[in-house]
Order: sequence, then structure tokens, then C-alpha cells
Amino acid sequence: MALPAVLLLLHLLLSSEGSLSPPRISFPLNSTDRPLLHFGHGDLHNTTALLLSRDSSTLYVGAQNAILSLDVNQSDVIRLNKKVQWSPSDKETKECRGKGKDLMNECPNFIHVLQPLNSTHLYTCGSYAYSPQEAYIDTQSFSIVKTDSAKGRCPFSPFERSAVVIADGELFTATKTDFRGIKPQILRYFSKDSRPDVSLETSIRLLEEPTFVSSSLDPAEGKLYFFFSEVGKEFSYVDDLKTARVAQVCKDDVGGVRTLQKKWTSFTKATLLCQFEKQLPFNILQDVFTLPPPEGDDTADTLFYGVFTTQWSRGPESAVCVFRLEDIKAVFKGSYRTFVTLTHQWSTQQETHSYLGTCGLGNSTDAVLGEVKKSFLTTNAVTPVGKGPVVVSSEQQYSRVAVMRARAASDTQYTILFLITESGFLHKVVLLDQGPWVIEEIQVFAQPQRVQSMVLSTSKGVLYVGTSEGVTAVPVANCSTYTTCSQCLLARDPLCGWSRTSRACTRVHGSHEDMVQNLEDSNAEDKCEGQTKAEAITVVHAHVNEVVTLSCLTPSNLATLTWAFSQSEKLFIQSDDGSLRFIATGNTSGVYRCEAEEAGYKQVVKSYDVQLIRSRNLTPRTYESAGPDETYESIVTEDPTMFLTQPVHTNDYTTDDRKNGFTTSPTDKVTSKEHRGTNGNLQSRSSDTQYRVKPDDVTPKEKSYYSELVGVSLMLALCICIMILGSLHMWQKRKVSLGKDPLVTPEEGSSINRPVEICSLSSRAELEPELRVVE
Ligand SMILES: *[C@@H]1O[C@H](CO)[C@@H](O)[C@H](O)[C@H]1NC(C)=O
Ligand SMILES: *[C@@H]1O[C@H](CO)[C@@H](O)[C@H](O)[C@H]1NC(C)=O
Ligand SMILES: *[C@@H]1O[C@H](CO)[C@@H](O)[C@H](O)[C@H]1NC(C)=O
Ligand SMILES: *[C@@H]1O[C@H](CO)[C@@H](O)[C@H](O)[C@H]1NC(C)=O
Ligand SMILES: *[C@@H]1O[C@H](CO)[C@@H](O)[C@H](O)[C@H]1NC(C)=O
Ligand SMILES: *[C@@H]1O[C@H](CO)[C@@H](O)[C@H](O)[C@H]1NC(C)=O
Ligand SMILES: *[C@@H]1O[C@H](CO)[C@@H](O)[C@H](O)[C@H]1NC(C)=O
Repeated sequence: MALPAVLLLLHLLLSSEGSLSPPRISFPLNSTDRPLLHFGHGDLHNTTALLLSRDSSTLYVGAQNAILSLDVNQSDVIRLNKKVQWSPSDKETKECRGKGKDLMNECPNFIHVLQPLNSTHLYTCGSYAYSPQEAYIDTQSFSIVKTDSAKGRCPFSPFERSAVVIADGELFTATKTDFRGIKPQILRYFSKDSRPDVSLETSIRLLEEPTFVSSSLDPAEGKLYFFFSEVGKEFSYVDDLKTARVAQVCKDDVGGVRTLQKKWTSFTKATLLCQFEKQLPFNILQDVFTLPPPEGDDTADTLFYGVFTTQWSRGPESAVCVFRLEDIKAVFKGSYRTFVTLTHQWSTQQETHSYLGTCGLGNSTDAVLGEVKKSFLTTNAVTPVGKGPVVVSSEQQYSRVAVMRARAASDTQYTILFLITESGFLHKVVLLDQGPWVIEEIQVFAQPQRVQSMVLSTSKGVLYVGTSEGVTAVPVANCSTYTTCSQCLLARDPLCGWSRTSRACTRVHGSHEDMVQNLEDSNAEDKCEGQTKAEAITVVHAHVNEVVTLSCLTPSNLATLTWAFSQSEKLFIQSDDGSLRFIATGNTSGVYRCEAEEAGYKQVVKSYDVQLIRSRNLTPRTYESAGPDETYESIVTEDPTMFLTQPVHTNDYTTDDRKNGFTTSPTDKVTSKEHRGTNGNLQSRSSDTQYRVKPDDVTPKEKSYYSELVGVSLMLALCICIMILGSLHMWQKRKVSLGKDPLVTPEEGSSINRPVEICSLSSRAELEPELRVVE
């Protein structure tokens, strides 16, 4: 039976259990295979806020002591439109230092808020030497028109997060309002129509050491939602138990008449639950992304994608849970707990008061508002869509998320998440029916950063990431990185499909006849039939007894590389990076193929034809200048053109190859179809001309004392070579075992010996299937 089918079955079994592999492809920083656009500018540091203009042609950047306007209308260049400097004076900076703050890291002006205020102005708020300031920026001239003290509107600390919504010119903010960062507030500023600014009642602790991460406006109901983590005081049996929350207030709340004057009468909060049944919850919220419903749909279908970590984990670990606005609304309409001031305990209400959590309580009786005042925590928690996390990583600490919908060639809609890891990698994850799948990881910054920002332009298909050095534009997909049909399909990226007509991997924009994709099953083989291009064979010329290294780059972290050799004996060493080493002899010359197997699909990545040079004048020419040690240096034979002078036909070894088959490695399990394909490739290439060394180099050798001498030295060389190779092999083995994390505890030690084949640039410890899903 076909091996691919077994692998497919295995794959399905595994994914139904909820485990998933690491990123399929990893792109390191500044990778030329997946080019990103950087914008750096002299003293541009610590990008903390990003804002895209409505038409996505301008990107506003809040950085340390500066606000910039960037032209991002062209996809291939980012230009600076204007920059305004906004830094504290020397006096203010000195005062900041006088208060015990770090001059370089805490006293500059860090931009917390950068939002459109109205059609002509931006609003911004910065930490400003630990004394928050706000400013209005005229977008036309891009200049600051007014600044003011903004204590209570954004945090004093550069590292404290706040959440802000500006709606109809009114500013709603959830922030810490004091220097020490211990007084949380949710406020409305710049209230219109002479209605009062409104804040939280402070006689009761409505919030317990919260960390705000995000906010969202539901215009349909006139409600604002704030997302944060805080200490869950309702769990009186555990000190300092953190819990993730969503709080709501009504946009038009004006406070009560006697009770709750100028205080929210609509403030309530609920727990956001992100956990698997019978397991500890992911209880600390890191970020929330609001995904509006498709155009025309009810706003109740708005989805909130939350990144969670846990209070208990010892290593990096995180999860993504999705909450539906409809479910949040239902919880706020349900029953509430009541805070009993005398005992400082929470009690669950006997009866449900239907007015709790509703808007327009301003004219209510004191009795009603009295009840409102103490019943602000819902009894029920909000459970996520699907009852548990959609993504769980036992290896990554995700800190930010952006989400987009993508229509695949089949017209099915998929959700793609962009998750930033603490260590500076962007993971692109698609939520398939079978579970999450990490299409790729892209390194976006080198050093871990405390401040992070990210904004997604779905219309442009670009994700902008703020880094400590500037701004990086990441195209949401670059399909041309996949050069073959199988690579294109194995990527399982809803944004990329193989075009049969243009024979290239290209962007998919919705349903398309010509496009081939393979998102839900792994049978790439049939779909790519007839689409494979003939793989070029690299001819390698090697002197007898020379050490030859054949390199092979894996197309994917999930592929297994094997080498197939046309001769019967296996006289080579495969190193961890997939390359092959051997000594050139009559027994080792021939055709080598590096094959990658992934998801049951096997493809030739690289082919070499190693040919011996039997040259009389070889010794003086090659080894003359080399010292005794350098003589045996491996010849990396990636560039055969060095040797090329005369054509030779490659069909010589086609017959040879067919005769011997692939008997030297596990590859002899390949199906007959693949055999046909490979030989077909070779035959189609037989008309191609390859080149080799000068003809006089291959003339038969003359027997002489000189050649005897050469023979003896070659024998000696061979011996030394074998010794070097042997010790190299042992050294590598030792290196591998030494390279293991020395901090592994004895209990974990059992997993050390597992073979490590898959590598993810961002993973730290041993490689376990990284993401799990539970339906
Ligand atoms: C990546 O590119 C940036 C900007 O061009 C440069 O400053 C940085 O040193 C590069 N990093 C690496 C690892 O090449
Ligand atoms: C996609 O990547 C290729 C290199 O793999 C590069 O030449 C091309 O410019 C990239 N396209 C975009 C839109 O970045
Ligand atoms: C700000 O940027 C500078 C230089 O890029 C860096 O040394 C510093 O740590 C950054 N501060 C923060 C808070 O990221
Ligand atoms: C952006 O570019 C398009 C076409 O390249 C052009 O029509 C449009 O006016 C530009 N927008 C801005 C704001 O420059
Ligand atoms: C926008 O807000 C600014 C600052 O409050 C104000 O000066 C300006 O007139 C407003 N513009 C419009 C169009 O309302
Ligand atoms: C309270 O009642 C007064 C008079 O009936 C009305 O003008 C006002 O809008 C009401 N306030 C609220 C918050 O409903
Ligand atoms: C090559 O292989 C043959 C047959 O296995 C063996 O007799 C011979 O010794 C080998 N030659 C070398 C140089 O290893």
C-alpha cells in the first residue's frame, strides 16, 4: 500500500488529537527569500504606536520623542512625509530623573496613543518624562497645533499599557492615572453637548490591579468594551489569582442624579475563559484583536481574538481564544454577583435584575443605582467559540495578534492569524478544519522588545510591525517563494495557489478555476501531476580521494531529507544539515539525489552527478600550494561552472541509473510513478548539454614510477581522510549531545534522546508538536 496514504492517515489522527507541527518554513531576519521592507530613520527608536489612514496610503508612527507620517502608498518603498519632534525639555527630563526614573529608558516621551480625533486632526498622548502630555496634530500640515497635560488620560510609565477608543470626538480611555501606576480608571473625556465627563466610582474597588490591553466599540449598541487582566478577588480562596476580563460601559452614559453622579451606571465586567476542560486556564490576557464581521453582517458576529498566557507556566506557553460579541452580550444580560462590603465577599444574587448592565440608567432610583453600584461582576464567564482555545503553543510566548479573513480558490473562507512572539518572530497561522497550521515564521526583530505595535492593512495585504529600530512592512504572503507546484500546495496557504496556466505560485483572491490549492487534505501529488519542471542536474568533478560535500537545502522544516545514490554501496555520511560527505572514488562517483519527503509527498530537491577526474598532472596542480591539513578540506561543489569547458551528454548515466535503481537508502520505497517521473526528468534533460574538464585531463594514465608515487601518496591521503572524517563524525556526535539544554531537569531528561529533525528558528527547547487544538 502506498506510504503516502499511511502518512496521511497518521497525520489526520495526530491532528484530531490536537497536536500540530512547528512552522513549516522559517525566514531569518533580512532573508532574501522573503524580503521585507524596512523603514529606519536616524534617531527613530521604539515604535510604540501605529495608525493607518483610512485609505491605507499613510502610516502614522508614534516613536520615542517623535511622530512621523510615512507614505506607504507604493508597495515597494516607504517614504517619510513629515516628522514632528515631540520631546520633553531638559528641565522636564531632569525632573523625571529627579523622581528616580531612568534617564535613557524611562524619561523620553513614549507615545501611548495615536488616534484620529476627527477628519482633520490626530490625537496623541505620550508618557512625556513621566508626566503625560497630549497633543493635537493637524494632518494636513502635519504639525502639533496644541499640547496639554494629560494626566489620567494615558499612563506615566512608558511600559504600562492603556486602551483608548475615540468615538465621535469623545475619548474613552482605560489607564492608570497616577505616577506610581496603582490607580486604574476608565474615563470619558472631551464629552460632547456639555454632558459631564464620566469615570469609575472609586468608593468600591471596581478594578483590582488591572493591566489593560485593548478596547473596542460596538456602534450598534453604543457600548465600549475594554479587555484586561486583573486579580480575581471573587476567588477568595486563592491570593493573587489573575483572571482575564472584559468590561463594558455605555458610550452615552452620563451618570446618576444623586447616586453615582458623573460615574458610570453601566460599568460591568465578566471573566473571559480560555482553557481546556479540567485544565488550568490561560488567565493572563496579552492582546486582543477585533475582527469585524464581513460587510453587511450583524455586529453581534464581531469576533475578538485574544492571546493568553498563564500565571503558572514555567516556560513560554500561550493560547488564542476567540470570543463572539453575541456571547459577551448574553453574559452581560445574565445574572450578577453582588459585592458585600461588610464581609468583602462576593455573593451570587438570588434574583436577576434585568436592568444591570443596560444603558440609560441615569434617571433610575437610588435603590436601583445602589444595586448597580455593588453588582458589577457577572455570575457567568464568557466562553470562547468552540469552548476552548483555537491555538495552543507549549513553546511560544505570543504577545500580539492580528487577524484577517481570506477566501481560498475553492471560495471557502479561512481565518489567518499573525502572532508575534516575545523573541521577535511573526507566525502566520491558518485555522484549518483539522486545526491550526503554521504556514511560516518570519523574524522581524533581533532583540526581544518590551514595547510592541502592529497594524494590518487587509486591503494592501501588508502587516506593519513597529520595532525598536523603525517600522517593518511584511507582505501577508509572498507566493513566489514557492517555486514548485508541490511546495506551493504543501504550504497550505489560503493566500497562495498554483496557477496551471502560468505555472507559478501566485496570490489567490477568491474563487478561481485555474488555481490549485490543497488546504484540507495532503494529497499534493495528484494535483501537481504534469506541473513539475525538470530538475537540473549539477555536474560535480572531483579528484580521486578528494572529500566531496554535496549540499541540500531542505524546502521545509517538516520535510525529511534522504539521499539516493545510483551505485549499490552507501559510502557517505549525511550530516545534520542534510549535506552529504564522502571521498571520491570509483565506487562513489555517480548520480546523487537529495529527496525531501513531507506529508507523504516526495520530491527531488537537488541532483548531482559526481564524476571523477583521473588526471596525471593532478598532484602538482591541486595540492602544490596547500598545506598538509588544507589538502583534505572539503570541496563544496555547488558551483560546477568553475570546471566547465566542454559539453558532455548526460544520458550516459540514465541507463546506469535505471539499472541500479535507488537501492542505497529508504528511498527504494518510492512508488513506481515517482520512478517514472524521475527518469523522465533525466531523459528530458539528455539533450541538455553539460560541461566538464579539459579533454586532456581524461586521457588514460601512463604507468610510471611517478604514478606509483602518486598512488602511495593518495593511499596515505585516503587514510588521513578517513581518520579526519571519523573524528569529525564523533566530534559532531559529541557536539549534538553537548548542545542540549543543560538546564533540563531529570524528569524532562527522558525526552532528550528523541531525534531532532525539525527545526524552528524560534523554538528554544526540544521540538514537540507545537500547537494543539481541541474541538
Ligand atoms: C537587517 O537589516 C537591517 C537594516 O537593513 C540592519 O540594520 C541589520 O543589521 C540587519 N540584520 C541582520 C541580522 O542582517
Ligand atoms: C517575493 O520574494 C521574492 C524572492 O523570493 C522577491 O524577489 C519578490 O520581490 C518578493 N515579492 C514581494 C511582493 O515582496
Ligand atoms: C529604545 O530604543 C533603544 C535603541 O534602539 C533601546 O536601547 C531601548 O532599550 C529602547 N527602549 C525600549 C523601552 O524599548
Ligand atoms: C496612491 O496610489 C494610487 C495609484 O498608484 C493613486 O491613484 C492614489 O492617488 C495614491 N494615493 C495617495 C494618497 O497618494
Ligand atoms: C478637530 O479637532 C480639533 C481639535 O479639537 C479642532 O480644532 C478642529 O476644528 C476639529 N475639526 C473638525 C473638522 O471638527
Ligand atoms: C432623565 O430625565 C430627564 C427628564 O425626563 C431627561 O431630560 C434626561 O435625558 C434623562 N436622562 C437620562 C440619562 O435618561
Ligand atoms: C569498490 O567496490 C568493490 C565491490 O564492492 C570493492 O571490491 C572495491 O574494493 C571497492 N573499491 C574501493 C576503492 O573502495
